[in-house]
Amino acid sequence: MKTTRVLMVCLGNICRSPLAEGILKSKLSSSNVFVDSAGTGTYHVGNLPDERSIEVAKKYGIDITGQRARKLEVTDLDTFDFIYAMDATNYQNILKLAKNKTQKDKVRMIMNELQPNENISVPDPYYGGDGGFEHVYQMLDKACAVIVGKIEK
Ligand code: 4NP
Repeated sequence: MKTTRVLMVCLGNICRSPLAEGILKSKLSSSNVFVDSAGTGTYHVGNLPDERSIEVAKKYGIDITGQRARKLEVTDLDTFDFIYAMDATNYQNILKLAKNKTQKDKVRMIMNELQPNENISVPDPYYGGDGGFEHVYQMLDKACAVIVGKIEK
């Protein structure tokens, strides 16, 4: 059976997309789904997720400390089936790498899974307080629940 490949994308790949990756993995029961994350920026390549993301994930029983930040590559648009952008800026930056309609159609804003066509961004919590990370977690938890239903059906 073919493996479905899902990529979560934010700017730094240290706050939002590592959480999205961890949350989605925690909800999957099928081994036919591969989940990864990446950033459109290079600032944090090779780094662990932000401590605040590690903490909020841990609070809900998810360990994301095995993750390291990487940059989004042009080839990701070939190799992944679903590419989820955390916000509108990430979305536009991913689309710039798309070579054709097939690739463009893979790219979605993650909150549109929950609230279709509303184009709601997951707010960047990097410069905010810890409450921002809890809020991000709750948003991603709801969106990932929808994604699981879609890819495991
Ligand atoms: P992320 O958050 O895109 O959710 O990983 C950020 C992390 C770092 C920076 C911005 C956003 N930064 O500017 O370094």
